[in-house]
Amino acid sequence: MRLALLLVMIASSGVTLAQGKALHDSACLQCHASLGGGDPNQLYTRGDRTVKSLDGLKKRVAYCTKAADVSWDKSQQQAVVDYLRQRFYNF
Ligand code: HEC
Repeated sequence: MRLALLLVMIASSGVTLAQGKALHDSACLQCHASLGGGDPNQLYTRGDRTVKSLDGLKKRVAYCTKAADVSWDKSQQQAVVDYLRQRFYNF
């Protein structure tokens, strides 16, 4: 019973992260690549990156969502925040 619950939790977080990555890569990579000398993800990994907290990340994603001209609902935005947090920011 416990194991089943754990597996469901792992599976659903995997789906969310995969969704976050898919949303991110379709809407956000291109502009960031033009900023980052061809490597779109260096924005998140550079030493002087601007986002330092989860709150800051949420604000930045909300702001950049407008720049990307997509209309994501809250859960889609959250999926992208989760993806970036886990993959790059580690907070
Ligand atoms: C039209 C261009 C553009 C698009 C599209 C765009 N961004 Fe950005 N993004 C920027 C710029 C410009 C910066 C700031 C770069 C700097 O600080 O030098 C930035 C920075 C960021 C940062 C902060 C990086 C740091 O310094 O820690 C995050 C997070 C981010 N963007 C997320 C997103 C997400 C998520 C999307 C897709 C919804 C997106 N961006 C789409 C232009 C864009």
